[in-house]
Amino acid sequence: MKLSDDKDIKRAKIKLTLQYTITTLIIVMLLIVAFYFTFSNSAYKDFDSTLQNRAIAIGTALVGKEESAIEDLKSISGILKNYDLGNESLIILDLNGKILYENLQDQFTLPQNIREGFYTLEGKEGDEQKTIRAYITKLNSTNYYLVVARNYDNLEASLHEVLFSFLFVVPFILLLTIILSYRFASSAIRPIEESVRILKQFTQDASHELKTPISTIKANIEVALMKERNPDYYKEKLETILDSANRMSKLIQDMLFISRLDTGTYPVKVESVFLKDLFMNLKSQFEGLAQSKHVNLSFETEDNLRIKTDKDILEEILSILIENGIAYNKENGFVKIYARKEGNDVNITVEDSGIGIKEEDIPYIFDRFYRGEKSRSRETGGIGLGLSIAKELTNLIGAKISVESKVNVGSKFTITIREVTYELQGSYNRRGA
Ligand SMILES: Nc1ncnc2c1ncn2[C@@H]1O[C@H](COP(=O)(O)OP(=O)(O)O)[C@@H](O)[C@H]1O
Ligand SMILES: [Mg+2]
Repeated sequence: MKLSDDKDIKRAKIKLTLQYTITTLIIVMLLIVAFYFTFSNSAYKDFDSTLQNRAIAIGTALVGKEESAIEDLKSISGILKNYDLGNESLIILDLNGKILYENLQDQFTLPQNIREGFYTLEGKEGDEQKTIRAYITKLNSTNYYLVVARNYDNLEASLHEVLFSFLFVVPFILLLTIILSYRFASSAIRPIEESVRILKQFTQDASHELKTPISTIKANIEVALMKERNPDYYKEKLETILDSANRMSKLIQDMLFISRLDTGTYPVKVESVFLKDLFMNLKSQFEGLAQSKHVNLSFETEDNLRIKTDKDILEEILSILIENGIAYNKENGFVKIYARKEGNDVNITVEDSGIGIKEEDIPYIFDRFYRGEKSRSRETGGIGLGLSIAKELTNLIGAKISVESKVNVGSKFTITIREVTYELQGSYNRRGA
């Protein structure tokens, strides 16, 4: 698989932005359409109810008079004078469809059969087609129909206005959506960007670390091959070569280990770990190294302390810390490893009397390939992967790692593990028993 580069990330960001934008726009459009439909629906209803109210008001005014009065055009005109008809058309007709009175704002044809109710009719004004809405009602206790009609001009104009103002804000919504989407996309991609950066850095650092021992090996072999040398010379060169080879093999081992951790498939098993046993193992493992460096190594734990965790992983973490404790120590210094129970937690501390870590270095010591300035010139120690592995392993078993250190006094690395079980070994452990 190709390591994704900046171009891929940029492409992914643009793709995400587009997807967010399109999704948001679709939602906004649907909302606008839904809103417009509700709005126009209620506008048409309002239109009808206004029409109906007008018809009722005019009708009430008309039937207050004698029936005969309705036939009297003069009196109708007199009554209607009080009504500002505006753009309404009025028609009064009898049951046979004979028109008694009309005052038209638009030309339109009445339906064939006159019945009470709302009608949408075809109309005309000059050459212009018009849609006319009419309400027909029977005048109370008379044999006459009243028609009140209006064209949709104003309504349609105001609906168009609403639609236009929606369309007007769409570009702004689009712009805002793009900006917000880009921000979302950027923050969504940031962790990927970060891990790609780390991966690149890792490859770069690893190749750099491999280059040094290879150059050392090559240089030593070349010098040794130049002319005949005495056996001691060869021995010395071979030792240097072996050192470099060891360094390379340690680096490759660590990198393979890290890559297994990175794939997230590293197996974790939970078992009951008897700390005393674990400490004995570590003691026999590091006694020789400690002695050769003149460092006093001691272990201390309560006899019956057990933890539920992965034994191999815990052992690996402690090995890394003990190795550092010995490597970054002073002549006749000490490394103490002790376990303490604190509530539900057990703290396992690796304390040394070594060179300590500068405060400004502490945030970086768990980074891959990070090495303190003093450690870089030391022949002891590794390539700066130890603590990064220790940190990942503590995460893996749900534990925590913390550090306290003082330059020239020493360092204290503490692993905090939850879930402790005590096994009481015999009744002599029970107080008062
Ligand atoms: N016990 C310690 N005392 C002093 N410095 C330490 C100790 N443990 C770690 N360090 C510092 O942290 C750095 C990173 O440690 P580590 O990841 O184990 O890498 P390495 O030991 O290969 O240099 C070391 O280079 C060293 O500077
Ligand atoms: Mg180390």
